[in-house]
Amino acid sequence: MKDSKIRMLTLLAVVAAVASITLAAATGTQAIKERQEAMEGIGTAMKTLGAIAKQQTPFDADVVKASAETIANHLNTAADLFPEGSDAGDVETWAKAEIWSDHENFRKDFETAEAAAVAMQSVTEEAAFGPALGALGNACKTCHDTYRRPKQ
Ligand code: HEC
Repeated sequence: MKDSKIRMLTLLAVVAAVASITLAAATGTQAIKERQEAMEGIGTAMKTLGAIAKQQTPFDADVVKASAETIANHLNTAADLFPEGSDAGDVETWAKAEIWSDHENFRKDFETAEAAAVAMQSVTEEAAFGPALGALGNACKTCHDTYRRPKQ
């Protein structure tokens, strides 16, 4: 093979490698953005529930149900937004490497949280609200403690 042809093939290989890295970064970035948005939505709905718990707003079963639905849906969406290769991207992520080394347990933590959010949807009595919120809050904390770097 001629030297120039080898050089050309090498160059093409380099270009292809760079392109695939860029693509991986784009995929990672997209997933990071989407899961952070989903988590933000969860956080907002959680604040609504927190305000009821602190008696800043009165208990309202409809509001509780709607907030719990939002949380359950977003948790369901977020669970699929941690593909391999999304441990880094063009935006900062607080996801820990354990998410991918321990993926089965990570998914279980999502299921536990989603189940708690679904259970919260059938809370109609104020007396049941506190315990339901406690269970949900614990599920968030369990996962964050293991799989999320704290935001300083
Ligand atoms: C199974 C794991 C898991 C569960 C359950 C979970 N989270 Fe998260 N959460 C994460 C991870 C991982 C991140 C970091 C995502 C990133 O930075 O890429 C995160 C990030 C967040 C953020 C920050 C979003 C941002 O803009 O950076 C908020 C707010 C949040 N979670 C709220 C909650 C609340 C409230 C619950 C419970 C109702 C909850 N999460 C349940 C794993 C979880």
